[in-house]
Amino acid sequence: MQKENKLPESIQLNPYTCDMYLVNGQLKKWKGATTEVYSSIYSTNSAGKTGPTLLGTIPDMETETALEALEAAKNAFHRGQGLWPTMKVGERLKCMEAFVEKMKAHREEIVTLLMWEICKNKSDSYKEFDRTIDYIYDTIEAYKNLDRKGAKFEKEGGVYAHIRRGPLGVVLCLGPYNYPLNETFCLLIPAIIMGNTAIFKPAKHGVLLIAPLLQAFQESFPPGVVNILFGRGRKIATPIMQSGVIDVLALIGHSSSAVSLQDEHPNKNRLRLVLGLEAKNPGIILPDADLDLTISECISGTLSYNGQRCTALKILYVHESIVDEFNRRFSDAVDALKFGMPWEDTFLTPLPEPSKPGYIKELIEDAKAHGAKILNGRGGEMSENYCFPAVMYPVNEAMRLYHEEQFGPIIPIISYREIDEPLDAMASSNYGQQVSLFGRDIKKIAPLIDTLANLVCRVNLNSACQRGPDVYPFTGRKNSAVSTLSVYDALRSFSIRTFVASKDTPYNKEILERLLNSDDSNFVSTEYLL
Ligand code: G3H
Repeated sequence: MQKENKLPESIQLNPYTCDMYLVNGQLKKWKGATTEVYSSIYSTNSAGKTGPTLLGTIPDMETETALEALEAAKNAFHRGQGLWPTMKVGERLKCMEAFVEKMKAHREEIVTLLMWEICKNKSDSYKEFDRTIDYIYDTIEAYKNLDRKGAKFEKEGGVYAHIRRGPLGVVLCLGPYNYPLNETFCLLIPAIIMGNTAIFKPAKHGVLLIAPLLQAFQESFPPGVVNILFGRGRKIATPIMQSGVIDVLALIGHSSSAVSLQDEHPNKNRLRLVLGLEAKNPGIILPDADLDLTISECISGTLSYNGQRCTALKILYVHESIVDEFNRRFSDAVDALKFGMPWEDTFLTPLPEPSKPGYIKELIEDAKAHGAKILNGRGGEMSENYCFPAVMYPVNEAMRLYHEEQFGPIIPIISYREIDEPLDAMASSNYGQQVSLFGRDIKKIAPLIDTLANLVCRVNLNSACQRGPDVYPFTGRKNSAVSTLSVYDALRSFSIRTFVASKDTPYNKEILERLLNSDDSNFVSTEYLL
């Protein structure tokens, strides 16, 4: 099931040489070593050989280039004196508006690369692009709103205060492969709009799709505000962190990467963290749940984008009184899902990580060795780049599948008798992002919501877990996140409250009045952004 089929004209791709990078406002040509980028989707090359499709090459940068980008970002911030951090908010917003207009021109190219590079189906690839554009526009509006709230003086205890939010400094921004455009930009865009400067390295998969945007970044922002590098984290991110110059580590990915990068930073308290990390979101299915609705939500919750979402439902707790019926109907629904190429827009598509099918196989074997079975007929069918979703039951604590974030097409099911069983498991888990609760009786649901809201950060009632809509807070407890993202919260996460204070004396009042009337300060301003 992994083989290529006849490619429609619209997704034909010539190997893409990404040999440019952006540092200090210059698009530079990379002359060093390169890495080939492959899609896990098979095709036959001109020599008649069938295998993973070569999509192009990217630079394999050395530490020296990473430090050059760091220097550029540091100089652009320039100890708070840089053009960008001191610019009027309205001017920064104009740069962002220019960027998003240019970005829109690359929709088709980026969507095609999303399908090839990370095997995301066509509708979800378009959704990822369009959602990102909306996110940028919404962020611009949210910042105007925030700025308007700060456009005033307060007076308390005989002290005038002009309170705004200021940037933090230099941001290192690293995104994940499952949303290589959207989630990376959900970090990068609020980071720079608030006046920070950034170094950004795309994820391992979903990297070529950033190349079409290099020029838009270069043309839209002053030199050094956005610096874009390609290569291995070890050679790029590690030395950047070791410099001690980074003020914010913005990362969506695994907590192990976040921890090892933090460990490299010599000034731990200087470093702010904006992290979206792994999760093991449970679905709890109560005896009176509407099973049609529950099964449909659990299918999308566990298997959208083959389960490669941090918000995916990664373990299902089903009450023992309905577990047999749930398992039968859920397994049938899984087996009915269509697998195909991303451009065929099937629900199931190949897995972009070459090692993932092997990993899922390991989880299946381990679960079987500890007493679980694959319930669905097609579960565990393997190919070079795919594993058909396996519904595993009964799962217990001895299994790796119980503990590990599978991030792929395998669904563990546990039957419970007392509601304390899933609650205890959640309380002792190292993760705490979201939960889905399926049921109807409010006498049962109400106290559960009260407890669950203290264990996770979003309780989804009869609905799959998800991040969106992006105006809602996206965060997690324990190892699942640090700080909060949303259109509004991200602006706060990448900035800090800072203010000008002055005792109410005739002398100070006269100075403040002159300041306000002069337009000499971009910070002290009561200008209203419309
Ligand atoms: O990988 C984690 C993403 O934030 C999930 O976002 O719920 O919109 O798919 P989503």
